[in-house]
Amino acid sequence: MTNTEIYTKLDNSIIEKLTAICGKENVLSDEDTIKIFSEDETEDLSFPPEVVIKPVNAKQISDILKLANEHKIPVTPRGGGTGLSGGALTVYGGICLSMEKFNKILEIDEKNFQAVVEPGVITQTFQEEVEKLGLFYPPDPASRGSCFLGGNLAECSGGPRAVKYGVTKDYVLGLEAVLPTGEIIQTGGRVLKNVTGYNLTQLMIGSEGTLAVITKIIFRLIPLPKFKKVILAAFNTFEDATDAVAKIFQNGITPSAIEFMEKAAVKAAEERQNKKFPNSEAGAQLFIEVDGNYPELLDKDIEKIAEVVSEFNPLDLLLAEDQQKVEDVWALRRGIGEAVKSISAYKEEDTVVPRANMTKLVKGVKEISGKYGITTICYGHSGDGNIHVNILKDKLDDETWEKNIDKAIREIFELTVSLGGTISGEHGIGYSQKSYLPIALSKAELDIMKKIKKTFDPNNILNPGKIFTD
Ligand code: LAC
Ligand code: ZN
Repeated sequence: MTNTEIYTKLDNSIIEKLTAICGKENVLSDEDTIKIFSEDETEDLSFPPEVVIKPVNAKQISDILKLANEHKIPVTPRGGGTGLSGGALTVYGGICLSMEKFNKILEIDEKNFQAVVEPGVITQTFQEEVEKLGLFYPPDPASRGSCFLGGNLAECSGGPRAVKYGVTKDYVLGLEAVLPTGEIIQTGGRVLKNVTGYNLTQLMIGSEGTLAVITKIIFRLIPLPKFKKVILAAFNTFEDATDAVAKIFQNGITPSAIEFMEKAAVKAAEERQNKKFPNSEAGAQLFIEVDGNYPELLDKDIEKIAEVVSEFNPLDLLLAEDQQKVEDVWALRRGIGEAVKSISAYKEEDTVVPRANMTKLVKGVKEISGKYGITTICYGHSGDGNIHVNILKDKLDDETWEKNIDKAIREIFELTVSLGGTISGEHGIGYSQKSYLPIALSKAELDIMKKIKKTFDPNNILNPGKIFTD
């Protein structure tokens, strides 16, 4: 029996019950809505939900999940729809649970450096609100202008600043969440230390909406660094760029970001945004940012970085001093993903290795590309060893693409794991990567994860078809 057969299709009586829970205006099944919620940012995948529901409080979500659990209806929570591994796709139809109405920042506690927010708040909005008070929420995914904090928790988003400040999980102290069986739980709390039972908060972060629906988040914040400086380094070869990264850290400097971009990534973003990027003809570039409260110390860091980078045959070193230039470069960098995606059919891989193994990773990716006749474009958060490998179909014929793509991805992941890395740093496994999970995890690990899922969700109604192959 396939999974589609074990799930119940929605009929009028269930739609009526959902309407009674959430109100007519929050239960949508018109063609336009269904189309929008069939997709996220993952490749060109499309799975229409049977209905889109926009609940407004945790009690409604609890009632929806109780109903869904009783009738075996799949429920897929959805944030901003910017995911890159299909985590929000309704692969078995059923209910798409849009969290867009959970959009309030409930409290910013300046005295304790904490905030309480709903999961449908847009990440950039939250960043800007806390920054007005001199506070800092560092996780900074490229999609920050449209992604939701709840989605960031689901995927444990990182972004460029993770190298110095950590990822989403490092800023979450507690949650309110609704279990697939309908109970509303509170985990963690407004404390910086907590060893009170198992850490359910952290278990839910990165669980890709498969364990519970998050309805409230308690964040930890830090003071906002007052100054930033950025240096752009251009190189002939990607090896010089990736080798320079580890060396910068070995010299005692922790930049707030070191982004790596190979030429094709820069070119794609230039074209898409119709803007020029300095040194865009160089084989590879590093975009290195330092931040802190004392500009003179940042100058010293920049001097040291320039000295270290000089050992790696840079073509050019450019200090982006004025704020506008810094913002322009960041906008270009944030646009790379979208730009590369627009070139042709593609697959996005989210490899991560120990930083000093990055050159071996990129070299290996290029060898694998050559062997299978595919095009790869590499860019990403080199400070973390997190390289996004975009595989483009480009001019390759359909048959060769179909025949080679899976083998090529497997080889890239096997290489990544052999270098001490893993197959997703920040985009998650979701739907698109689940067949590769056994490359990274042992049977024992997979078994215990599946048991955890079963404990939370005995009827497998919450975001089914994700992380594990069924
Ligand atoms: C980025 C996204 C794709 O780094 O993670 O641009
Ligand atoms: Zn990224």
